[in-house]
Amino acid sequence: LGDVYKRQTKTSERRTYMIKIQIPATSANLGAGFDALGLALTYYNYVEMEESDRIEISSSDDINIPTDENNLIYISAKDLFNICGKNLKGLKIRQTNNIPMARGLGSSSACIVAGIVGANMLLGNPLSTDDLVDLAAQIEGHPDNTAPALLGGIVTAVFDGKKVHWVKQEVYTKLKFAAIIPDFELKTEKARACLPSEVSHKDAVYNLSRAALFSASLLTGKFANLRTAVHDKLHQPYRMELIPNAREVFDIAYNHGAYGSYISGAGPTIVAIVDENNKYFSGKMKFSLDNAGLSGWQVHEFHIDNDGTKLIAT
Ligand code: HSE
Repeated sequence: LGDVYKRQTKTSERRTYMIKIQIPATSANLGAGFDALGLALTYYNYVEMEESDRIEISSSDDINIPTDENNLIYISAKDLFNICGKNLKGLKIRQTNNIPMARGLGSSSACIVAGIVGANMLLGNPLSTDDLVDLAAQIEGHPDNTAPALLGGIVTAVFDGKKVHWVKQEVYTKLKFAAIIPDFELKTEKARACLPSEVSHKDAVYNLSRAALFSASLLTGKFANLRTAVHDKLHQPYRMELIPNAREVFDIAYNHGAYGSYISGAGPTIVAIVDENNKYFSGKMKFSLDNAGLSGWQVHEFHIDNDGTKLIAT
């Protein structure tokens, strides 16, 4: 992680009491913006954190999480302590995991961001927002979930392997984002392993034009463009093969008036972008899914979170 982050922190600034932070779910790629575009959703994990002499990790729900040094929040917090030249003996962590795991909604990024933001707060905020965005991407390997989880809004990001060059834009539109979540997991490693190592010049142009069209259309309200903008040739055609019934889910979403639908992150969740005035979208979607024998898919509507990760209690 390099020593560019090494900073002096004053022990007097360290917090020795419990903090509680809220971290949003994220939806990455947004169709054509593979590893480059992502947005934060109004769907949250919560993490309480306090310095301790030992590792004490628990969860406030039934979700099975590592409770030792293999816990991703702990690993990420320890990375931040190391970078700041501080010794971390242990941490007391309590997780509330609303974001489902391995579903393409940024659950691992939420852990990474929780770990580094929490640790940074405990140390009196030695690292800047830019430092945190860089560190989160270094841990995750790509920035399109970690950056919006930290910053909120829609984030355009280029990761050069060390630094993230990013722009966050707040979004205030009459849009909602319906996450259509199946009852099976798809691990990101598997969903990345199925991608080709090379693509044609034509396919590259196909994607970059659509990725640019996506954010420009979203931000200016030209929503009719979204259906074209979400198409891509870099990942979705390959990942469709790993998501049984994805084609039917896309068709149903478009039949009920979605502006655009795309595989969220590495999948298997599919996100439909829908007008706020399309009041009964989720109900109609669920009814049609059940009728098509796809009752394992659940539909949840969210909006864009413009705040990103924040402290909600000390
Ligand atoms: N951009 C990443 C991918 C997001 O599509 O693999 C999932 O972590």
